[in-house]
Amino acid sequence: MKTILITGASSGFGMLAAVELAARGHRVMATMRTLDKAKELIKLAEEKDAGSQVLLHQLDVASADSIASLKEYLQGIDRVDVLINNAGFAAGGFSEEISIEEYREQFETNFFGVMAVTQAVLPIMRAQRSGKILNMSSISGLIGFPGLSPYVSSKHALEGYSESLRLEMKPFGIDVALIEPGSFSTNIWTTGKKVADASLDEASPYFGYMTAIEKEMERGSKNHGDPMDVVKLLADLCERDRLKELRFPIGKGVKAAILLKKVIPWKKWEAAVMKKLGF
Ligand SMILES: NC(=O)c1ccc[n+]([C@@H]2O[C@H](COP(=O)([O-])OP(=O)(O)OC[C@H]3O[C@@H](n4cnc5c(N)ncnc54)[C@H](OP(=O)(O)O)[C@@H]3O)[C@@H](O)[C@H]2O)c1
Repeated sequence: MKTILITGASSGFGMLAAVELAARGHRVMATMRTLDKAKELIKLAEEKDAGSQVLLHQLDVASADSIASLKEYLQGIDRVDVLINNAGFAAGGFSEEISIEEYREQFETNFFGVMAVTQAVLPIMRAQRSGKILNMSSISGLIGFPGLSPYVSSKHALEGYSESLRLEMKPFGIDVALIEPGSFSTNIWTTGKKVADASLDEASPYFGYMTAIEKEMERGSKNHGDPMDVVKLLADLCERDRLKELRFPIGKGVKAAILLKKVIPWKKWEAAVMKKLGF
């Protein structure tokens, strides 16, 4: 039985992973910024007779106070075998029209939040001389998309941070890995998406471009994957002895897209993206 801390467990991958891991007999610290949103998780865990395996804790990864209270809470926990840095949202719009505040908000959750929670957990894992940190990146951590630069840059930053962290933690028996999903059916495409208002305004010089992107995303939504595929990967990684790989890409066409971007010249890649968007 492992003790696993998950951030952003109120919905999507985080909630489903908490339920799956609890059902597999692990002790799960399911954290979320509003505990009122725990009802679905509790219901699903109870349906699997695993309600008692779940410990709920309020955590907003972007709040310094909340991180401080996480550190206090962890003093009462004997061990943490796995940290799943899952909390995140997707901010979009066109770069010229996105305020620096909006970029900062995106980074506070998707990037600095990961660092803060990791710093809270590392002393415990170091003392144990074992542990796993699974950082929820994205295909957007390796490939840039127009109209999504806050999200893309936050996930690219997470990739670099995780590479360094993996090498730092290796001598301490702690494995760091990146999960890189393509598109899956969760709330990130609805309530978890924040597009800058200006880019959705007809007066914007980017309105036509933004609309083309939104249409392409709408078309793509029919092919979104089943989040349980990602959840099973997460649960399997939690149960492995060691993680020999850093990156775990997952989703339809994801490995092919990553490989293609690496091997073809940028001008060909760019031409294909622009063609897809009707330019
Ligand atoms: N679904 C995809 O296609 C996809 C693809 C690649 C990567 N990902 C990544 O997967 C992770 C989970 O997303 P999801 O797809 O499962 O979307 P989701 O259903 O929207 O879940 C996101 C979770 O993050 C939480 N969250 C947001 N800001 C937070 C904060 N400051 N502190 C704590 N929790 C916060 C949300 O809480 P609230 O309920 O309070 O908003 C929610 O529980 C994200 O890191 C996302 O970037 C998703």
